[in-house]
Amino acid sequence: MYILITGCNGQLGNEMRVLSARHPNHRYFFTDVEELDITDRKAVSAFIESNAIDLIVNCAAYTNVDKAEEDEVTALKINADALAVLGSQGVKVIHISTDYIFSGDEHLPCRETDPAAPRTAYGRTKYEGEKRLLAVCPEAVILRTAWLYSSFGNNFVKTMIRLGKEKKELGVVFDQIGTPTYAADLAQAIFTVIESPVWRPGIYHFTNEGVCSWYDFTLAIHELAGITNCQVRPILSEEYTYRTPRPHYSVLDKSKFKKTFNVTIPHWLDGLKRCVKLLDF
Ligand SMILES: NC(=O)c1ccc[n+]([C@@H]2O[C@H](COP(=O)([O-])OP(=O)(O)OC[C@H]3O[C@@H](n4cnc5c(N)ncnc54)[C@H](OP(=O)(O)O)[C@@H]3O)[C@@H](O)[C@H]2O)c1
Repeated sequence: MYILITGCNGQLGNEMRVLSARHPNHRYFFTDVEELDITDRKAVSAFIESNAIDLIVNCAAYTNVDKAEEDEVTALKINADALAVLGSQGVKVIHISTDYIFSGDEHLPCRETDPAAPRTAYGRTKYEGEKRLLAVCPEAVILRTAWLYSSFGNNFVKTMIRLGKEKKELGVVFDQIGTPTYAADLAQAIFTVIESPVWRPGIYHFTNEGVCSWYDFTLAIHELAGITNCQVRPILSEEYTYRTPRPHYSVLDKSKFKKTFNVTIPHWLDGLKRCVKLLDF
């Protein structure tokens, strides 16, 4: 297949590039906003046509949760309007969505069929993107994920390593529960979808296995990074000043993905170990 990967300079896009080397049976076109702005309908159509693209993997997004509150218009353009553009090209689409489409008030892992109730501008725009995509491309695959990190780009893992080296003490919230997800494992899941003998459209949840709080995650990061001089303290969300509300419980139920594609998924600690090994600190 001829595969277009958008947002290739981001965490997931970079992991797709790394993994593509192990799948030389396809031809890849890696683009970010400089080469191809996904909001530009004319440019997208021209690119798809001139390169005979069969499949779009959309790794591009407006991902800054705090900035989205101040500029929902731009977030909507990239996270939603562009999905109508990508979905109407007459080619297959794999798109990435988020746990933020849920309220985060539940206490059981969210299924694909659970009602959406986004509490943030980012979540609203991502949910709108899912709807706009499915309206024009009902055969699309949407993978909802959460707590993404990678050896590429800036993320929680790198921040906690930096702070762990700088500070003697660090308060990290223990009342927000989720599943850290290594973007390399999400990229692997995308290849599982691509290489499935039958195209299986629909919405799926994909994260690593297991659950933890940001506090537990930080302890694991510091242990793996050999950081011993920083005391990590569990704090409540109300003790931390968030510019945007964060979901308290955003665990996703991955049963549908595992059953449909007959795969097992690595535990989050396993993913973290592989990622930390690649980091320079
Ligand atoms: N990060 C998380 O914790 C998380 C959690 C759940 C779901 N997700 C979803 O997972 C997907 C991948 O996330 P990620 O962390 O890899 O994102 P990321 O690192 O922020 O990468 C997104 C990339 O898209 C680019 N981009 C922005 N606007 C564009 C446009 N108009 N046209 C083309 N490219 C554009 C960005 O460029 P600039 O940097 O220049 O803007 C960036 O290189 C996204 O759909 C995200 O919503 C992420």
